Amino acid sequence: MDSSDSPRRWSPDSWRAKPAAQMPTYRDADALQRALARLARLPPLVTSWEVETLKRELGDAARGRRFVLQGGDCSENFEDCESGAITNKLKILLQMSLVLIHGGRKRVIRLGRFAGQYAKPRSADTETVGGVTLPSYRGDMINSVEPTETARAPDPRRMLRAYHCAALTLNFIRALVDGGFADLQHPEYWDLDFVAHSAQAAEFRRIVQSVGSSLQFMQTLSGRGVAELNRVDFFTSHEGLHLPYEQAQTRRVPRRAGWYNLAAHFPWIGNRTRNVGGAHVEYFRGIVNPIGVKIGPPISPGELMALIEVLDPDNEPGRLTLIHRFGADAIGAGLPPLLDAVRASGRTVLWICDPMHGNTEVTREGFKTRSFDRILAELDRAFEIHRECGTVMGGVHAELTGDNVTECLGGARGITEEQLHTAYRTQVDPRLNYEQALEMALLIARRMAQAGT
Ligand code: PEP
Ligand code: CO
Repeated sequence: MDSSDSPRRWSPDSWRAKPAAQMPTYRDADALQRALARLARLPPLVTSWEVETLKRELGDAARGRRFVLQGGDCSENFEDCESGAITNKLKILLQMSLVLIHGGRKRVIRLGRFAGQYAKPRSADTETVGGVTLPSYRGDMINSVEPTETARAPDPRRMLRAYHCAALTLNFIRALVDGGFADLQHPEYWDLDFVAHSAQAAEFRRIVQSVGSSLQFMQTLSGRGVAELNRVDFFTSHEGLHLPYEQAQTRRVPRRAGWYNLAAHFPWIGNRTRNVGGAHVEYFRGIVNPIGVKIGPPISPGELMALIEVLDPDNEPGRLTLIHRFGADAIGAGLPPLLDAVRASGRTVLWICDPMHGNTEVTREGFKTRSFDRILAELDRAFEIHRECGTVMGGVHAELTGDNVTECLGGARGITEEQLHTAYRTQVDPRLNYEQALEMALLIARRMAQAGT
């Protein structure tokens, strides 16, 4: 394939000529080639028309006509590719989206961090466990979390397992959605057993009743069928970190121009790999999917504008989503200059807030956690700052699970440092549990209602 240095030439492998951060080193080059050749022949996980639909909808969100809810695990793992974990994730995203529809009076785009979120950037290449220095765990797509040399050796066959788990996850989600599980008229299907008595559950049920009656009202008014009004879509997203996996699933499709990444509807570039001269930006600039970029300190307005120029040269609606993740303390100084620079350029991008990744801390006992208050504080500031700058806060990006975990501090049950160990299950970043996620949705819905959007 052509991998010319000319700035306009691009091919699915032209990233190989650029410096690639966060890449593991495979020991067996033949095994790597075999896995990639197999992956390249497997059927696509998503279709180009779904990708185009999402791009159109994200274009609406950039103009304030829809709201994005992007959420799921920090890092999926192969073990959790099972029906309970998948349905719980779907349930919490559905419940949150219903709350947001109710508060914001606009349609919600549901973008799961699932069916491909198997590769993780790490701050160090190695970690020391019990005096032994080992390669860092980089996500199930690359190696295994157990602290042994063998488990941590990158294995290219894991890319095929990641593909298969993604396909199984998506297959189940598509079947649930088609079978009416996600029908807005049946929110009783989405109830999780362990929260029957929580305050959020009660508030959620009040919202359900009110949405249910307005749906009936709309049907009566419009004469349109139930299925048409109630249809719920899910789209998939993951960090496009492991470029060999992404490249192998980058295809041309009949009757459409350009190259599609058919491993996910919406891949994004992480905060650690968004260097404008690096391999990740090179790969992403050439695919036609809608894409995201995580934006965090210490990015400057000049650096951001250079990224936008490379990734969205035509200012195409829905193409580029900027996911800001500053932290509650840094957002006030960090975000406004970026919003001003983009606004002054006359470009339209979609801004969404990730209130998780700038608020990570480590407890005295060594648990990586996040305070729920700081997460909400960042969200609150984000709404305020966008209003002051005259820009649209078009969505939220969160690490959450439908399960009853204890990974983030605070929330309605007031999880304390001492309680974190009781159900701390994440292998990478701490997630909001069911109640915290729903409480966050209620806060966002209130802010949306106040903004009168
Ligand atoms: C993530 O989303 O899990 C992540 C690593 O985020 P960021 O790139 O913003 O640090
Ligand atoms: Co994370």
